[in-house]
Amino acid sequence: MYLITGGAGFIGSKLVMHWWLAALEVVGMMKEVASLMWRSGTEAIERIERGLRRHGLCGSVRLVASLAGKLAGRLLYLHQRHIWYELDLDRERPLIALPPELELVRGSMDDLPLLEQLPTISLIEARRRLASGAEPWIVRKGQQAVFSCWIFHDGMPVFAARRGWIDLPRGVVGLEDVVTSPAYRGQAIASGALSTIAGALRREGMTAILTKTEESNGPCRGALEKVGFQAAAYMSLVRVATRPRVEIQPVFARDVFEFLVAQLSR
Ligand SMILES: CC(C)(COP(=O)(O)OP(=O)(O)OC[C@H]1O[C@@H](n2cnc3c(N)ncnc32)[C@H](O)[C@@H]1OP(=O)(O)O)[C@@H](O)C(=O)NCCC(=O)NCCS
Repeated sequence: MYLITGGAGFIGSKLVMHWWLAALEVVGMMKEVASLMWRSGTEAIERIERGLRRHGLCGSVRLVASLAGKLAGRLLYLHQRHIWYELDLDRERPLIALPPELELVRGSMDDLPLLEQLPTISLIEARRRLASGAEPWIVRKGQQAVFSCWIFHDGMPVFAARRGWIDLPRGVVGLEDVVTSPAYRGQAIASGALSTIAGALRREGMTAILTKTEESNGPCRGALEKVGFQAAAYMSLVRVATRPRVEIQPVFARDVFEFLVAQLSR
């Protein structure tokens, strides 16, 4: 139609075509980047659609370019420093109570949609985890999610490990993805929840909880230390291109240190 109505129409049609091709290119690039970053294809496509709606086409192009740059940089060189903590459940530890208006539950499939209120893993990943035996613990105030974390039995995900996973000794559980709703941070919610979870796990016969956090994460380290977790080992992962190197250095808990060296060093 634009071709028939003259020059302006022709330019208009070229512009439309140009934007259409650009949009297709952006969606293609986003799909590629997203499929590298997220395990589930369905989830990636939902995120792309949400991103396009939220940032518009130009904003999305800029975002994809910056993500692609970061991803390329991350693929070429990666340096992470974590600190491992252990909570010995047989030792005496401080007991921190949650405020009475908050309820801590070990989540079921029906509770998982609550996690969408928190900056944590996706619902798809949460369902996958629960189905494979991990436990979501959720603090809620009515229908509002305030805190969540995951407890893993037998083994836990560790990015630096060879299979992305380490096996845990009998009686030891792994703690991952601790998060408090931004509006509730600094009010002893994480420490109160972890202290209560530790009590429940001890009553079920568990002997220790193992977890890790970024060395620079002051609030997380603060919450863990208040509950009685002790720093066990520093872990550094340096990956240049496809060659990862993991180093574990002890803090003081010898047994955990040796276990981590055996599971992770490469
Ligand atoms: C980490 C996180 C879960 C803590 O939740 P929270 O409910 O605010 O934790 P708490 O209030 O129970 O405890 C935090 C403690 O750390 C202290 N703290 C806060 N910032 C700190 C810092 N930069 N350095 C040292 N300690 C710090 C707090 O003062 C508090 O101790 P206090 O009660 O004695 O003052 C929350 O900040 C969060 O969700 N962060 C984003 C997600 C995240 O980083 N998760 C951890 C992954 S391992």
